[in-house]
Amino acid sequence: MAKGTILSGMRPTGRLHIGHLSVLENWVRLQEEYKCYYTIVDWHALTTAYQESESIKNNIREMLVDWLAAGLDPEKSTIFVQSHVHQHAELHLMLSMITPLSWLERVPTYKDQVQQLGKMGKDINTYGFLGYPLLQAADILIYRANAVPVGEDQLPHLELCREIARRFNHLYDREVFPEPQAMLSRVKLLPGVDGRKMSKSYLNIISLAAEQDEIRKQVNAMVTDPKRIRKTDPGNPDVCVVDKYHSIYTSGEHEDIRQQCRKGAIGCVQCKKRLAEVLEEQQAPIRERRNQYLNNPGYLDDILAEGAKAAREAAEETMELVREAVGI
Ligand code: TRP
Ligand code: SF4
Repeated sequence: MAKGTILSGMRPTGRLHIGHLSVLENWVRLQEEYKCYYTIVDWHALTTAYQESESIKNNIREMLVDWLAAGLDPEKSTIFVQSHVHQHAELHLMLSMITPLSWLERVPTYKDQVQQLGKMGKDINTYGFLGYPLLQAADILIYRANAVPVGEDQLPHLELCREIARRFNHLYDREVFPEPQAMLSRVKLLPGVDGRKMSKSYLNIISLAAEQDEIRKQVNAMVTDPKRIRKTDPGNPDVCVVDKYHSIYTSGEHEDIRQQCRKGAIGCVQCKKRLAEVLEEQQAPIRERRNQYLNNPGYLDDILAEGAKAAREAAEETMELVREAVGI
């Protein structure tokens, strides 16, 4: 089996949207070839949401349901909640001893985020938030993972993780940790319905749980070519959000739709209607699976309990090596 070990995680900060599907599809494929650990990182959520922590538990459940509905299989992968495996915290602590403060302070997004969130009234000038990438390194190193499927935004965190692995191995003179590689996948980047970045707080997403009405409403809200007044006016699909979605979801008809748009042969109403149909076709089975899982809370608890048990065993093996290397 297994070309190696993979770990990846997501913060339970809210419902997933259809833009996350291509990330999950990638995770699903990797299950066939690697030993995969997929974790819902609730401690990471707490670094920024410590003042509104009451929603984290429910978000974990929703996220698990989204993952399963997208095809993650607990028979193939170890699926668990970060805080259920205390070894992550122990390794984080041990690594904190050898991590120069400057390495954390110079992570490119760090100061930026403290400022950005500060403006929104969130004080993340905390020890926990500074340690965010180190906790992430612990998540990865505790399974001695070889590869980490992530988006480009996470590359600095991965670089830090590798530096820490090297430093540990060097300081204690043994190869406890392999240096994990980032695995960038071609994720299809979708804008939100208003053309801005997809974000829950902009209300511009289509969630994985969206019912048909919601899908239609959001497709109708998509920004089209503003210069097009009548449906016979020639349009410019390049400035239209609907077109970006067609390129992904209606790929077989996409070129045709673009030509018709340019010629003024298709109206925006009809064009959106087609997109809403295709999206609904894709989402209906996912939504159905979500509902089945949500109606079966015992099953969800079992998955997380078994996942945590398997993860703890693997994590404890690493911790034994770590304690021995350090000599405590
Ligand atoms: N920082 C990651 C993100 O925001 C989440 C994360 C935490 C993670 N631990 C991880 C991703 C370990 C990959 C591996 O998306
Ligand atoms: Fe956009 Fe379709 Fe309207 Fe063209 S016809 S502007 S692609 S919605």
